[in-house]
Amino acid sequence: MMSDMNKGTEGGSSLFPTYARYPISLVKGEGSWLWDDKGNKYLDFMGGLAVTNLGHAPKQVKDALVKQLDELWHVSNLFHIPNQEAAAKALTDNSHAEAVFFCNSGAEANEAAIKLARRYHQKVKGNGRYEIITFAQSFHGRTLATLTATGQEKVKEGFGPLPEGFRYIPLHDIEALEAAITDKTAAIMIEMIQAEGGVIPVEPAFVQHLAKLCKERGLLLIIDEIQTGMGRTGKLFSFEHYGIEPDIFTLAKGLGSGFPVGAMLAKGELIEAFTAGSHGSTFGGTPIATAVVKATVEAIISEKAPERAAESGEYLVGQLREKLAGNPFVKDIRGKGLMIGIVCNGPVANIIAEGQKRGLLVVTAGPDVVRLLPSLIVSREEIDQAVSILTSIFADQTAPAQL
Ligand SMILES: Cc1ncc(COP(=O)(O)O)c(C=O)c1O
Repeated sequence: MMSDMNKGTEGGSSLFPTYARYPISLVKGEGSWLWDDKGNKYLDFMGGLAVTNLGHAPKQVKDALVKQLDELWHVSNLFHIPNQEAAAKALTDNSHAEAVFFCNSGAEANEAAIKLARRYHQKVKGNGRYEIITFAQSFHGRTLATLTATGQEKVKEGFGPLPEGFRYIPLHDIEALEAAITDKTAAIMIEMIQAEGGVIPVEPAFVQHLAKLCKERGLLLIIDEIQTGMGRTGKLFSFEHYGIEPDIFTLAKGLGSGFPVGAMLAKGELIEAFTAGSHGSTFGGTPIATAVVKATVEAIISEKAPERAAESGEYLVGQLREKLAGNPFVKDIRGKGLMIGIVCNGPVANIIAEGQKRGLLVVTAGPDVVRLLPSLIVSREEIDQAVSILTSIFADQTAPAQL
């Protein structure tokens, strides 16, 4: 028998080593601030990867969660769940969507979107279309279908055979897009800002072309709002910047303020495609999760979080452009609202580590981009503090970083 001493992984952890973790254990959070187990304080400009859009432990959401914990945690989706209806209404009242399917994560929301697109064409339209077109550098999740939809080889390694029916094209390549469409194409799936891919905003003209093409050819437009949604880019949903209405869109991350929940939204004839028994999830839309969603949507609206993200984002980008001007390591500063990328001339891992030493948490987006994802209600003082720390780090970083 194996002794306890030998169990687990090399560092003595009982977890799968699926993350290269930073040497910090965070134990408390409030607003834009986090504390570690040694009492060190950090200004959080990564927001749990675009999750804590209202900051850590936002009062309205916490109150709704605590109240619900006293009443009811879980019932099967075989029953009516009033909180789920109310949360769905909060989302449909604030978008063009007419129906919501709740699940537990971003990957599950995209999985539901892919399934809905296929089933709509096959069962409602009866045309047998199933192919989904996605883009190079995209990220859509880590289930088998969503990692297949993802336009990055590294997430697919060792997981074959992958599901059929996905085609990839370079972003902004209209010719490649036209060539990829066949009589089997069901949908085009895209992020308005490729987040994990390096904070790459899609050109408005390309988005317009895509929306027009989808209408003309009877294809569904699926927008992955998992990282860009819930006010992050300066609008409640990032497609609002482009004046378009996707057939399907997906949410997670900021939807639950830190509580795990995802959603897939659609309208019209699409709703008929998911009949009773065609799709489901034991934990999708529990009374607790949907109390949190309703409170989160209401707080985002009442706090004017999208408007604040737009204003703060403009200020933050302006400050970064001014303070980092002429720094040879900085190539570009891009993004929308409070999803901002500092594009660098080399690997940025040491900038992330240096930030942690100086009390600022930021994250990469690909190897060469420092990504900033603060709370949408971050204060000017907190932004100034973050810019000051970043300026000092970049000042010490005059040559391409050595890893
Ligand atoms: C754009 C996008 N889609 C999908 C996902 C997957 O979400 P989850 O990790 O909740 O499954 C992510 C996660 O980073 C994402 O950024």
